[in-house]
Amino acid sequence: MASIVEAEGLTKVFNGNFTAVDHISFKVSEGEVFGFLGPNGAGKTTTIRMLTTLASITQGKASVAGYNVATEQDKVRQSIGLVPQDLTIDDDLKGTENLLLAAKLYHVPDAVAKSRASELLGLVDLKDAANRLVSTYSGGMRKRLELIVGLIHQPKLLFLDEPTLGLDIQTRTVMWNYIKRLNEENKMTLFVTTHYLEEADSLCHNVAIIDHGKIKVSGSPGELKQKLGGDVLEIAVNDGVDLTEFFYSVPGVKDVKKSDYTYRIKLPSTEEALPTIFEGISKKGLKITKVSFDKPSLDQVFLEVTGRSLRDQGQGAEDRVQRFIMRARTR
Ligand SMILES: Nc1ncnc2c1ncn2[C@@H]1O[C@H](COP(=O)(O)OP(=O)(O)O)[C@@H](O)[C@H]1O
Ligand SMILES: [Mg+2]
Repeated sequence: MASIVEAEGLTKVFNGNFTAVDHISFKVSEGEVFGFLGPNGAGKTTTIRMLTTLASITQGKASVAGYNVATEQDKVRQSIGLVPQDLTIDDDLKGTENLLLAAKLYHVPDAVAKSRASELLGLVDLKDAANRLVSTYSGGMRKRLELIVGLIHQPKLLFLDEPTLGLDIQTRTVMWNYIKRLNEENKMTLFVTTHYLEEADSLCHNVAIIDHGKIKVSGSPGELKQKLGGDVLEIAVNDGVDLTEFFYSVPGVKDVKKSDYTYRIKLPSTEEALPTIFEGISKKGLKITKVSFDKPSLDQVFLEVTGRSLRDQGQGAEDRVQRFIMRARTR
């Protein structure tokens, strides 16, 4: 597939001495949901700001929608939408008015803007609130409005910087559903940053994990998790007869440990292997007394490549601060 974003050795140095983004290289294919993941301070926003022409590039190069980010800024801007991390919509305007204002900035003709605004409000279930002041919106409603403000000029590529930051888990799921729909129904490429790695897991086609300005690992969530060694399946049977050899004969099985009647099996995909395992055990006249399995997560991938757990880094406190800021703005 053709790439719509290409970065090569992209670097940002602040104040001549702090390297926030450190020679990163990656590609985003047209039509995919790309997750740019990492903890707070990793360099995600700075990278988005460089790719969207809002920050200068210290070193390296990048192209977006086929245009050079450093030398073809106007063309880049016309091709992309951006939903920044900080709220940008105007509280003292109604939902629709915010959209029409954005349309003006992008020179979308009035009539076209009106019909698109109404369509987009419908897309994120804000039709009923379209003519209310944004100051009366909940945090989730604001985020949804932010999302469609970035879409009024029908970009083929949308950058979303922490679209679910500060939202409760239910509202986060709703946001991801909209993101998925934009990708599937509108064939839009989405470049999404988040520090909630588990969200990206099921929804991104490909991800890159960035830490301290460097890309640590990239690929599809499935590939990255598979490199960890795959699933761990635990299975217990009603007899002590040794099944180790049988388990090793199942395609994909990498490691088998037996203790009493219980086996701990490492394999790439439990779903694929279970039918063969069930059939084999039943053919031997044995009964399964327990089955459970653990799937590796992107959080474990992060731990593997950085040596630290994302969960230990006070993300909870950071989110509470963000929620506080959002509530304060709502008042
Ligand atoms: N304008 C700036 N001047 C100096 N340092 C900055 C500036 N913007 C960001 N940084 C620093 O760069 C690093 C990366 O920040 P950022 O890209 O916002 O991370 P993320 O979005 O992943 O949380 C952080 O250490 C941050 O403090
Ligand atoms: Mg950020």
